[in-house]
Amino acid sequence: MALERTFSIIKPDATRRNITGKVVAKLEEGGLRVVASKRIHMTREQAEGFYAVHKERPFFGELVDFMISAPVIVQVLEGENAIMRNREIMGDTNPKDAAAGTIRAEFAESIGENTVHGSDGPDTARDEIKFFFADDEIVG
Ligand code: CMP
Repeated sequence: MALERTFSIIKPDATRRNITGKVVAKLEEGGLRVVASKRIHMTREQAEGFYAVHKERPFFGELVDFMISAPVIVQVLEGENAIMRNREIMGDTNPKDAAAGTIRAEFAESIGENTVHGSDGPDTARDEIKFFFADDEIVG
């Protein structure tokens, strides 16, 4: 098994409801360690840049508006197979399809307001971490 890092966002629906600690508890109970974390309010430019891969999708405008509607917590998570592990702990993108006990099954309100983001592979993990964190902000 490989020690990996992945990128996570706790989204505006969670900061608005003051449940970020509950989300972090799920990540930690699932075996992941928060090695970097900051609470930020994304600019429109940041959100559009981060989600550029989705810019042709019909929900892009809604997604960007939501992500800048309140603060978020951006994090780097570390652990054995952290990328896949994080995706298991988060559950399916659509909370209706998310397995019981996952973050999205317990907390997400809809496919758009789905509480967390997690990188989907090693290349995106590396790029997404770099998008928000300098090397010296990842402290282990
Ligand atoms: P995330 O992992 O942050 O990556 C892209 C996001 O787009 C995804 O989570 C969802 O929150 C959002 N998304 C995907 N499909 C839809 C949809 N049909 N309507 C609104 N938002 C969506």
